Amino acid sequence: MMNNCKAIKIAENIFWVGVIDWNLRNFHGYETSRGSTYNAYLILDEKITLIDTAKIDFKDELLARISSIVDPAKIDLIISSHVEPDHSGSLGEIAALAKDAEIITTNPNGLKGLTARYGNLNYKPVKAGDKISIGKRTLQFVPTPMLHWPDSMVTYCPEEKILFSNDAFGEHFATSMRFDDENDLNTILSEAKKYYANILMPFGKQAQTALKALGDLEIKMIATGHGVIWRKNISTIIDCYKKWSSGEVEERACVVFDSMWHSTEILAQTITEAFAAKKIPATYYDLKFTPLSDIVTDIFTSKYLIVGSPTINNQMMPTVAKFLNYLKGLRPQNHKGFAFGSYGWSGQSIAQVEDELKAAGIEIILDKIRITNIPSHEQLEEISKNILELEL
Ligand code: FEO
Repeated sequence: MMNNCKAIKIAENIFWVGVIDWNLRNFHGYETSRGSTYNAYLILDEKITLIDTAKIDFKDELLARISSIVDPAKIDLIISSHVEPDHSGSLGEIAALAKDAEIITTNPNGLKGLTARYGNLNYKPVKAGDKISIGKRTLQFVPTPMLHWPDSMVTYCPEEKILFSNDAFGEHFATSMRFDDENDLNTILSEAKKYYANILMPFGKQAQTALKALGDLEIKMIATGHGVIWRKNISTIIDCYKKWSSGEVEERACVVFDSMWHSTEILAQTITEAFAAKKIPATYYDLKFTPLSDIVTDIFTSKYLIVGSPTINNQMMPTVAKFLNYLKGLRPQNHKGFAFGSYGWSGQSIAQVEDELKAAGIEIILDKIRITNIPSHEQLEEISKNILELEL
């Protein structure tokens, strides 16, 4: 079906031609409650240049926006910042229309990834420091390996002082307004933190390397691959990335658990209140009710992580196992915590949770709390006292 989507001008002869995925609620397991955008940019210069494409499901929207400015067949250059298909998915379709276009990608990882997905196209691999003149403008390429794939790259245009940053500085946030200052800043910053926690948390060192490489550039606009384009709050989002990539944590606690018959739940409530009594804000997450991607976003900058599970069939509950598996992959830094749980007879789950916390790099600061059946008033008082007396 024809659509009437149009390009949006972001600078003289530079246009946003991306797509808006209003309905996205799950991005490979990351719960995206506010949808997303897959941003692509078109530069009209002596060489007509397209920076990134979009998910294949949205090729018609992408082509409509490009076509509102120029015939896609006239594109001379396609910059592929990242092989992941949310950005490269429509590359084959665009390349089929723009038959002579060169496709810029990193060497060797971009080249390998694009070739594997889209076959032999007209690739032109680039490396760190390479520049291309497209007429009045220059494009400089800065590979950002493992931020968050081996092939990832950002592109800087010095004449415009625009950084095309792909996944970096972005957020999964569907909006009809393209710029940061046209949206609620707290909302986009909280979505940017959620994006960082769920996508970039394992790559803090690589993020710091990239921030250093970009440190000397004068930037007046960050044209991201997802969500808003930063033009007003550039130093705010860069400072957030400096903080997030440093692994800095705050004096806060997250208590994460599942419960079968409310006993582990009562323990979770007691532990949450004990931290609050120590003047350490604590958030209580029953895994039945809160998406993992929201929980890990809070854990990311909370110093303390306390995890509980009852025992079922000699195991921790599957919800807790899923949570710990997801957390471990994100390689959290600088957290401390302990395990707890109630059980009926065998009670293996609590030691399993403690082992998984250790495997995730969490420093254990209190011996695991194991309670059979229903915790008594005295046991709850003892748990509160132990937490209150805990030297942190
Ligand atoms: Fe937005 Fe890593 O793709």
